[in-house]
Amino acid sequence: MTYIIASTCIDVKDGACQEVCPVECIYEGGRMMYIQPTECINCGLCLSVCPVDAIFSDENIPEHEAGFLAVNDEFFGPAVTGWGSPGGASREFTASIDHPVVAHHPAAALATE
Ligand code: F3S
Repeated sequence: MTYIIASTCIDVKDGACQEVCPVECIYEGGRMMYIQPTECINCGLCLSVCPVDAIFSDENIPEHEAGFLAVNDEFFGPAVTGWGSPGGASREFTASIDHPVVAHHPAAALATE
């Protein structure tokens, strides 16, 4: 089991999840954060603080967000960052790139007043 970050994080990247994660398994990409699945200890703290409800347990992902299980995992693989399991988020392990699914995700509509 792991937790994953899904599409509502894109272009929001609030960061509250990263601050509360006790094992620093939440890593910053260009448009969203990603959870390293083998480092996640499934505590659920991140889920409780995300203001846009972007975080799900892998056992409880809504169907339309199911692809984000692979997106989180593959972000750390050779096709994206090649980081593997860095052992903790840090300045060194911060990326300006994203998984292709996220990179090609349409920008959220701008809020109108
Ligand atoms: Fe994204 Fe929510 Fe974390 S918006 S950065 S998953 S607190």
